[in-house]
Amino acid sequence: MFGWLTRAAALGLATLWVLTAQAADEPGSPLERAALLLNSEPIRPVPLRRDLDPELLELGRQLFFDARLSGDGETHCGSCHQLPPIGEDQRLTDVSAVMGKYQRSVPLLYNVSEYYWFNWDGRFSSLEQLLNAAITDPDKMNTEWSQALTRLAPDYDARFRQLNERPMAKTDVVQALVTFLHSLNAPNARFDRYLRGDQNALTERERRGYRLFKDVGCATCHNGRSVGANFFEQFYVYRHEGGQEGEPRLQDLGRYYVTGEGEDNNLFRVPSLRNVALTAPYFHDGSSDTLDHAIEEMAEHQLGVELDRNEIDLLVDFLATLTGTHPGVEP
Ligand code: HEC
Ligand code: HEC
Repeated sequence: MFGWLTRAAALGLATLWVLTAQAADEPGSPLERAALLLNSEPIRPVPLRRDLDPELLELGRQLFFDARLSGDGETHCGSCHQLPPIGEDQRLTDVSAVMGKYQRSVPLLYNVSEYYWFNWDGRFSSLEQLLNAAITDPDKMNTEWSQALTRLAPDYDARFRQLNERPMAKTDVVQALVTFLHSLNAPNARFDRYLRGDQNALTERERRGYRLFKDVGCATCHNGRSVGANFFEQFYVYRHEGGQEGEPRLQDLGRYYVTGEGEDNNLFRVPSLRNVALTAPYFHDGSSDTLDHAIEEMAEHQLGVELDRNEIDLLVDFLATLTGTHPGVEP
């Protein structure tokens, strides 16, 4: 009982901290920020714009699609992370292939710079850390930094020198890529328009779906600007309370991989639900093919409730309103 209370209190505090920090961080007048803070919804809108250095952004865009960052000279970030146009009338296919040693589903990167933790197991707490590691990761770019910098120098050194007045270094490449990732902000989801005060942005069904999302408990884990990606939670909380269901697979150990602590077994980052209608298959290992099924699993195993067909449909309708807009980026 006390374990449950402590967990609920910790989740409550973490949520409050995230919401306050994100409201303070909103662009706009102090009055608009105060209005957002007072608005007690557990989800915050994605900022409408970001001010980014255009020079650095362009360097980052080119590096994202530059195969000289990889050991095989063929792989670039965009080989795995497609950046197609998104919006409510677009449907994506094959953006979330399951791959690599740990059999992880490839995340769609829109809004990624809003996250507090990165990768399914929350291995990294900053994009800088993640990128430093992605270059040498045998599953990703599989090269040495020194070699990548030598290959990139002929095209990039002079341009970075102009910006920083020193020879190009690893941190410059990382900074340019991070700037590019910041530009993948996908604002203006219908749900964000609703949060900003447009009552007509959602249909009656979608509003009911949102109420259910809060009432049934989804928002205790999926909240903030990213509707997730703020903290860790046991995946299949209820499955594991009464003991393991069969042998866990290596790829299901989650954060245990990062810390080696027994208590982190099966602990995963709560993922962002932004654009989730577009990113089947679901879960870290792509084990769920449809959104209906993923929601059913969540309700049953994370919350211990059984939803009927109508309730699942309402949640699907609400989640589809979290699809933002981005014109996409071509290689
Ligand atoms: C071979 C495919 C592959 C390549 C190449 C690759 N990635 Fe990834 N990326 C993945 C996968 C798979 C994950 C999820 C990994 C995990 O959770 O263990 C990921 C995770 C990420 C994340 C975190 C997303 C999240 O939801 O937390 C970012 C950001 C990212 N990659 C950016 C990049 C950038 C920038 C590059 C180029 C330097 C790159 N990736 C190269 C496959 C790839
Ligand atoms: C106790 C915390 C918790 C609660 C409550 C919770 N979730 Fe989740 N959710 C998670 C975690 C952790 C994952 C990631 C599992 C994994 O890594 O495979 C996840 C994954 C998901 C996914 C898949 C996302 C993707 O990109 O693959 C969806 C959809 C989802 N949740 C919806 C919901 C809905 C709807 C509810 C309410 C019925 C809910 N969740 C309740 C923690 C939670």
